[in-house]
Amino acid sequence: MAGRLRAYDDAFGDYWDFLFPRLEHAWRLLAEDGTLYLHLDYREVHYAKVMLDIIFGRDAFLNEIIWAYDYGAKARSRWPSKHETILVYVKDRARYHFDSSEVDREPYMAPGLVTPEKAARGKLPTDVWWHTIVSPTGKEKTGYPSQKPLGLLRRMISASTRPGDRVLDVFAGSGTTGAAARELGRRFLLVDSNPEAIEVMASRLGAAEDGPVRLLRAADGAGPPRDVSPSDRAGPFGRAPDARRLGGLPLGPRGL
Ligand SMILES: C[S@@+](CC[C@H](N)C(=O)[O-])C[C@H]1O[C@@H](n2cnc3c(N)ncnc32)[C@H](O)[C@@H]1O
Repeated sequence: MAGRLRAYDDAFGDYWDFLFPRLEHAWRLLAEDGTLYLHLDYREVHYAKVMLDIIFGRDAFLNEIIWAYDYGAKARSRWPSKHETILVYVKDRARYHFDSSEVDREPYMAPGLVTPEKAARGKLPTDVWWHTIVSPTGKEKTGYPSQKPLGLLRRMISASTRPGDRVLDVFAGSGTTGAAARELGRRFLLVDSNPEAIEVMASRLGAAEDGPVRLLRAADGAGPPRDVSPSDRAGPFGRAPDARRLGGLPLGPRGL
């Protein structure tokens, strides 16, 4: 599949070669009852779905979450694009953890149609999440350009992990995953290849080389897994690599 697509699109081939080994590593690092949330641009997400079906298996596909918002300029020559797609895969369909009772609830669209008790409690979110973007003037804003709202990460982490579990984000940006994980009593490991991201997340989470949230430098030779070794190529049943081979600067609490 990748070969055929590459034949007419080199840029796509590069993208496939970038993403595929990272998703394979994510599979290996995931706990047996763990869940992967992958958020990608709407132009790329369908290819990522194919990759994840190959790596995780089609049965492992749990959800396609649509994050819908309504902010910013609107195109007039097509439907304005105001949603993002998040793919959800589990390591093992028979064992994955999912607890909807831990998730924040939403207001009913027609509260008059349900009992006052139900209306007060709110409804369970579906796979369409209406959530505003990070306000450009709000206190959540870190200044990192692609920062995602804490509310989204809280929801994913509350549903798919238990207190004390470990959460890994290998494209961590401003550290929203870490901020949500910490709030919810989960341990976390954040990685990013951009020094600016490291600076922002370190300041956001109060990370220091010897603090409770530790700032780690990538070991010599660590870096993006451009070449996957033959043993790693063994497919989903290969051995688990060191998290640092995913590249960037890992950051996490002591003992992770
Ligand atoms: C969309 S942003 C993540 C935003 C994050 N969710 C937040 O709330 O701030 C993607 C991040 O991936 C990082 N990135 C891109 N390529 C990378 C790579 N090869 N290894 C590690 N991080 C990478 C970028 O520096 C960027 O910070």
